[in-house]
Amino acid sequence: MPEYSKTILITGGAGFIGSHVVRLFVTKYPQYHIVNLDALTYAGNLANLKDIEASPNYSFERGDITDEARMTALFAQYTFDGVIHLAAESHVDRSIMDPLAFVRTNVLGTANLLQTASTAWKNNLQEKLFYHVSTDEVYGSLGDTGFFTEETPYDPRSPYSASKASSDHFVMAWYHTYGLPVILSNCSNNYGSNHFPEKLIPLMINNIINSKPLPVYGKGANVRDWLYVEDHARAIDTIFHKGKTGEKYNIGGFNEWKNIDIVYLLCGMMDKKLGRPAGTSAELITFVKDRAGHDLRYAIDATRLNKELGWTPSLQFEEGLEKTVDWYLSHQDWVREVTSGDYQNYYKEQYSKR
Ligand code: NAD
Ligand code: TYD
Repeated sequence: MPEYSKTILITGGAGFIGSHVVRLFVTKYPQYHIVNLDALTYAGNLANLKDIEASPNYSFERGDITDEARMTALFAQYTFDGVIHLAAESHVDRSIMDPLAFVRTNVLGTANLLQTASTAWKNNLQEKLFYHVSTDEVYGSLGDTGFFTEETPYDPRSPYSASKASSDHFVMAWYHTYGLPVILSNCSNNYGSNHFPEKLIPLMINNIINSKPLPVYGKGANVRDWLYVEDHARAIDTIFHKGKTGEKYNIGGFNEWKNIDIVYLLCGMMDKKLGRPAGTSAELITFVKDRAGHDLRYAIDATRLNKELGWTPSLQFEEGLEKTVDWYLSHQDWVREVTSGDYQNYYKEQYSKR
């Protein structure tokens, strides 16, 4: 094995955001050894990393972050200098169906990883870094105005956001109590390639391609702040290398959209790309029963990340959305693979009664 300047553990690297972070680190830092630990749940897919899997500075390990013995063995096998922790259950609707799975992975799994890292690193703790990737949903729901800043009190309202808020608190507890060097970031909604088609944007793209109903919750008036996934990966790179230990950073693109406006935008864009008469896809829009406890609006103030660490998003939304649609149109095999089997059961359970 060649000499590497750092060995970094990335958890959840086979998922949507994790795969973009792994790719960025493997290609940008050939001097680092990147170890991707993933349980390969329904959301994890090694096909997301086909292009870099043969890179000499990349290793994959299958394992569950809640498995104490497995995590201890992993930290004995590799001398990690840092952890970038993304592994999680990530979908709000699934958290409503099965909340305890979210407590298990997001809360117990994160606490287990913190404990394993602190124990393995106890002799030179100050040289290490545990970077926890979190969400803006921990801040709760905004009204029509205002933004989430790093000082906004936590007010999670779904089992998903409560489990992520809890994991954030455990990360800070390990910092204050055990002196583990940590950094946290809270990002807004991501979109881009390799996004599992249970989330709004890839689900709508997939249903438009297949001329299936487009299920808009409630009146479609809820607002999300969208960031291109590669911009999130770049922000994680910036924060990992330049962020201050013990601090947290909000990540977002100042890019708020009502759900219904995104769906119309996609319909128009895809009618053109698919050679369908204008208005064809919009006829598929179906307003369905609202999500329980549906947060009205998320909006991130990312000033601190911009001013202190110099990060800015690189893409305008329409440009990013077009790249995303093109990716789905040219990766129908990927979509077919991830939507076979379990996805069909999930889809039926989630949408048939709405
Ligand atoms: P994802 O669901 O696409 O991927 C999660 C990955 O974690 C999968 O590869 C899965 O196999 C793995 N995983 C799940 N449980 C595991 C376990 N017990 N042990 C090991 N691996 C396990 O999620 P994502 O959208 O890529 O989100 C990644 C992280 O970013 C999450 O922590 C999420 O909370 C956070 N986040 C997501 C968004 C977003 O818009 N998707 C926004 C902000 C923050
Ligand atoms: P989602 O992509 O699940 O992200 P989150 O809930 O974490 O923000 O949903 C984004 C928005 O889209 C949210 O307001 C719920 C709404 N939505 C629909 O209207 N229909 C759908 O089928 C889905 C999955 C989401």
